[in-house]
Amino acid sequence: MSQNKAIEELLKKLAEGAQLNEQQQKQMKDYKFWKTQPVPDLNEKITEEGPIEQKTVADISIQPYPLLKEFEWADLDLNNVEDRDEVFKLLYENYVEDADSTFRFKYSSEFLDWALKPPGYKKEWHVGVRVKASGRLIGFIAGTPADLQVRSKPVKAVEINFICVHKKLRSKRLAPILIKEVTRRVNLQGIFQALYTAGVVLPSPVSVARYNHRPINWGKLHDVGFSYLPDNVTKTQMIAKYTLRNEGKLKNLRRAELKDFDQVFTLLTKFQSKYELIQDFTRDELKHWLFGDNTLSNDKKVVHTFVVEENDRITDFFSFYLLPFTILDNPAHNELGIAYLFYYASDAEFDESDSAKAQALLKKRLTDLIGEALIIAKSLGVDVFNCVSCQDNNLFLQDLKFGEGDGILNYYLFNYKSRIISGGLDDDKHVDYGNVSKVGVVML
Ligand SMILES: CC(C)(COP(=O)(O)OP(=O)(O)OC[C@H]1O[C@@H](n2cnc3c(N)ncnc32)[C@H](O)[C@@H]1OP(=O)(O)O)[C@@H](O)C(=O)NCCC(=O)NCCS
Repeated sequence: MSQNKAIEELLKKLAEGAQLNEQQQKQMKDYKFWKTQPVPDLNEKITEEGPIEQKTVADISIQPYPLLKEFEWADLDLNNVEDRDEVFKLLYENYVEDADSTFRFKYSSEFLDWALKPPGYKKEWHVGVRVKASGRLIGFIAGTPADLQVRSKPVKAVEINFICVHKKLRSKRLAPILIKEVTRRVNLQGIFQALYTAGVVLPSPVSVARYNHRPINWGKLHDVGFSYLPDNVTKTQMIAKYTLRNEGKLKNLRRAELKDFDQVFTLLTKFQSKYELIQDFTRDELKHWLFGDNTLSNDKKVVHTFVVEENDRITDFFSFYLLPFTILDNPAHNELGIAYLFYYASDAEFDESDSAKAQALLKKRLTDLIGEALIIAKSLGVDVFNCVSCQDNNLFLQDLKFGEGDGILNYYLFNYKSRIISGGLDDDKHVDYGNVSKVGVVML
């Protein structure tokens, strides 16, 4: 079932690239590039977990991968307005769009700053390819620092994201070169593992999750062609179904402040210890991811974090980030507000030793918390709220009227073998509302 057709289409494409059907039928031998990389074979039974290839910095070439003579490598300096605008333009025009190009991700400079410049970021990991003659940017891939814990083992790693090749240069094997070059640059810093997500099936997912969507402004979603009206239901009924209160009712909920950070860090660390795939945040990293640029006014903020404080104790927090769509060619609306659930934690289950009771407590608490997140998102102009089937999200999806989407998101580890980690889906890849995932990391 898809409530928001165009969002679905976009997320699905984002997840899948353009080639899902082809890819799904591919076998290991058909992955001309990936079969040469240190990744597990499709359907490989993992018995021993850990790195696949053991290398040292001394093994890594200091020369960039050769490109066709028309192209050249570029380190993009996102502190430089021109470079940032070029990345913005490339992604805006080429990243992912719906079939008739009516909707586009509206990356802002604030979003790119937040997404690509966490503590320890390196501009040589913001890898660009330019046309030599014109200087035009036609390819991009980004690595950001992100140590992981995989089934409790610390893994020094990066996250790889925002791979993009100009539409006119697709299917020319530029993507593998971008991947190899960012790998080389990351390897030169002594890091040999990476986490990345895609909808395309590649060798071989460590986890598989699904997108879920909660319409907030159903009327607008319908007006702009995002949501369709199911049979035997009126528009009024649909609007009523998704109408939220204007004010929340959870006591002691407020916007997070820097003074809360120590408690939030401790709470998240404890809460996440149950997951099998998490980002092992440093304090500075978590501060960056939850507070972003704290000097921005609330209407400019990319990431929004809220805490519940009782008697000086932070008992819960949640966060979400905003990445709107631009709507082209619509006289009534030019933007669609989209929120993505980010990190959260609660102490609701901590003191209960019976696991079923602990989960029931957490379910009640998360339903209240994320219910508040929806109301706050609405006040910020959000029209639809998205999340995947990871973390403990399956506990609240149905009660809060999230609809299961069509988009699948595969999680991959580069140069690391791990047994499969649940992404909250059943054997048919539908949301398993009775079970929660073991994936705690949230990818942008
Ligand atoms: C994703 C994208 C960069 C791939 O480039 P392309 O020109 O289509 O593909 P190329 O000919 O350069 O390379 C094909 C190889 O890249 C792999 N590939 C394609 N998409 C990939 C992805 N998202 N992640 C990793 N590898 C990918 C293919 O499997 C193939 O390797 P194989 O022979 O081992 O199967 C390009 O389609 C694009 O910019 N899409 C829009 C943005 C997007 O969807 N980004 C990914 C979000 S997850």
